[in-house]
Amino acid sequence: MKKLLIAATGLALVALSSQVFAEEADSADVAKKVYNQAFGRGCGACHDVAPNPNLVKNINEGTLDEKKFAEVLKEGRGGMPKAMAAIMSLPPVQKSGLKEEQVIDALFKYLKHKK
Ligand code: HEC
Repeated sequence: MKKLLIAATGLALVALSSQVFAEEADSADVAKKVYNQAFGRGCGACHDVAPNPNLVKNINEGTLDEKKFAEVLKEGRGGMPKAMAAIMSLPPVQKSGLKEEQVIDALFKYLKHKK
């Protein structure tokens, strides 16, 4: 009986962690689509080109934290347009049901690990 219980607990844990995994994979996928589709041509149209800020580099070097990242997306800055309305209206974002803060977080994590 005890063995059975342990086995059942183990199974439940496996099921739970694979669900968390699936959700993370989903939001990473949504983030990738945002990066490629926002404003029609994607964030990379500006950010993969010098001298605009290289987001991957700045995040990994620690000069761009998630708070500042969120702030710039919401408020815009200089040549950087306000982006949240454009991001939230993208079909993959709407379909995902993710909230604004979740999309920002997913986008930040996606960029942190982007090659
Ligand atoms: C039309 C070109 C353009 C597009 C499209 C664009 N950006 Fe920007 N972005 C800029 C420019 C230019 C700056 C520098 C602004 C400044 O400081 O003057 C900037 C700055 C930023 C910063 C601050 C960087 C730092 O290190 O301080 C973030 C974060 C950012 N953009 C995110 C994004 C994301 C995410 C997207 C896509 C949703 C995006 N941008 C789309 C042009 C663009």
